[in-house]
Amino acid sequence: MAQKAPIRIVVTGAAGQIAYSLIQMIANGDVFGKDQPIYLHLLDIPVAMGVLEGVCMEIDDLALPLVKGYVKTVEPEEAFKDADAAFLVGSMPRREGMERKDLLAANVKIFKVQGQALDKYAKKDVKVLVVGNPANTNAFICSYYAPSIPKENFTAMTRLDQNRAQSFIAKQLGICVSHVQNVTIWGNHSSTQFPDVINAKVLQNSKLMGVYDAIKDTKWLESDFIKTIQTRGAAVIKARKMSSAMSAAKAAVDHMHDWWHGTSNGNWVSMAVVSDGSYGIPKDLVFSFPVTISNKKWEIVQGLNITDFARSKLDFTANELVEEKNEAEIVCSA
Ligand code: NAI
Repeated sequence: MAQKAPIRIVVTGAAGQIAYSLIQMIANGDVFGKDQPIYLHLLDIPVAMGVLEGVCMEIDDLALPLVKGYVKTVEPEEAFKDADAAFLVGSMPRREGMERKDLLAANVKIFKVQGQALDKYAKKDVKVLVVGNPANTNAFICSYYAPSIPKENFTAMTRLDQNRAQSFIAKQLGICVSHVQNVTIWGNHSSTQFPDVINAKVLQNSKLMGVYDAIKDTKWLESDFIKTIQTRGAAVIKARKMSSAMSAAKAAVDHMHDWWHGTSNGNWVSMAVVSDGSYGIPKDLVFSFPVTISNKKWEIVQGLNITDFARSKLDFTANELVEEKNEAEIVCSA
């Protein structure tokens, strides 16, 4: 049988810790399929080129047949040339004494430049996943500066938050994580996100039931559970002295895999996508919604029950995103 034509996959921040796990999984066919050859386009900044050289040596040493070649570069023009999909991981980490505003200012500028390069050099149907923080607002800026590429092609990652929530519920009930479905992360990938299990289901003792019925502790679900998921990233940093990397890479794989191959019947996943006004969320914000996907196109799940409790959480995280978007627009237009 004839081999598929290779596709071009960009990873930015390619010398960083998330990329170190992510590149191996992409190269192994975990995202685009075990029959899909790829070229890897690896972008980082000049000081990281030595480390990236070592990563490339390891890509050779993996001896994975799907990898037809790689480009390692500091030039966005070269990295995004003819790209089919892009994982935008690279960004500046928060340094001691740095305010959230300073971090946002530094990072949105990176995504402005990369948006401009995507606009000029990538394929028009490129699928862009932003991982680098502040992920939602970076995705908004990236899309804004790539007007020739549909807005729907820019997404940001909240899948790690979804995976965390799913895993936590499974552990609480002593069931397999695959028996928890339709957990939703709403809003920003930040501590204002709303991990929502109101519409989620679990398979327990061969019976499909709502999470609230299975857990039987509304108070816990609406306080400790939410807080634990919202602050999980900080807890990992405290323990590991570094931020989540292996789990972030796996979440990026899950996100792009489902975008590429679609969601299964009756299941949805959480992705930060451009708002069309659904659930009263201001249009154009990059907001995490429950989505189903087919033919590489996502659709926001409609008609879910939004309780008064949920409404206040959705509005709170949307307000934070409005503020971030306003700040980012000021920084990028200066
Ligand atoms: P890291 O610091 O290990 O790696 C970042 C890499 O990006 C470095 O190699 C750096 O040189 C590179 N970089 C910096 N500026 C760049 C530019 N202009 N172009 C290309 N590369 C550039 O960080 P790590 O742990 O890999 O995390 C990366 C990002 O992912 C961080 O912003 C982190 O906050 C975010 N993150 C997001 C998660 C999510 O769920 N959305 C989860 C975990 C991390």
